[in-house]
Amino acid sequence: MAFVIALGVLVSGSGSNLQAIVDAAQAGTIDARVAVVVSNVAGAKAVERSRAAGIRTQVIDHRGYADRRAFDAAVVEVLRECGVDLVVLAGFMRVVSDVLLGAFPWRVVNIHPALLPAFPGLHGQKQAVDAGVRIAGCTVHFVDSGMDTGPIIAQAAVPVLPDDDEESLGARILEQEHMLFPSVLQWFAEGRVEVIPSAGDGMRPRVCVHGASTAFGLRQLG
Ligand code: GRF
Repeated sequence: MAFVIALGVLVSGSGSNLQAIVDAAQAGTIDARVAVVVSNVAGAKAVERSRAAGIRTQVIDHRGYADRRAFDAAVVEVLRECGVDLVVLAGFMRVVSDVLLGAFPWRVVNIHPALLPAFPGLHGQKQAVDAGVRIAGCTVHFVDSGMDTGPIIAQAAVPVLPDDDEESLGARILEQEHMLFPSVLQWFAEGRVEVIPSAGDGMRPRVCVHGASTAFGLRQLG
C-alpha cells in the first residue's frame, strides 16, 4: 500500500519533467504531491509552470550566497519547512553539496539525459551523437557528491537514428524522461526502492527495486 510522498522539486530551466510529475500527481497515477518547487533561476519556465499549477514556488538565487553550502542550507530550510520526503532534481543546474545530501540521505534523485555512466555532465545528448553510439537514453539515479555518479535506479533506452542531431535525439530522450521519472517516484511511494550498501569489497552501493522492471525502451528490437 503506497502512501502519498511529499516531493520537493528543484529546477533551473524549462520544467517539462516537473510538468510530467505534476500531471501524474494530479491525475492520481502516482501517490505523490509536489509540496514545493525551488528554482535558482527567477525567469525559468519551470517557475511559471509551478505557479500555474498552484504549487508553492520559491526562487532562491544562488548568486546571493557565498558558496554552495550556504545556498544549499537555504534550500534545505525550505524543503524541511514543507515536509519534503524526497528531493527531486529535475533539470536543476547546480552541483549539490554535503549540506543537502546530509539533510536527505538517500533521498535525493536526479534525471540525466544519457545512459550513465556514459556521458555525464552537460550536453549528454550531444555527447552521444558525437560518439556515434546507436543507443542512447536517460537515467534516474541517486545523487552523490560526484557529477552524475550516484547509484542508478532505472534507465530508458532510445535508438539513435542516422540523421539525429542533439535536438532530435534530445526530444526522443525527453519523451522517455517524462515516463521514467514518474514511474520511479511511484516506486518510492510504494517503498520498493532499497539501497544495498557496499560490502566493502570495492563495489559501490547498488539499488534494488523490488517487483519492478527498471529497464525501459527499445522493445522494437526485442
Ligand atoms: C532534462 O534533459 C534532464 O534530463 C536534464 O535537464 C533537462 C531538464 O529538462 N537533467 P526540463 O527542465 O525538465 O524540461
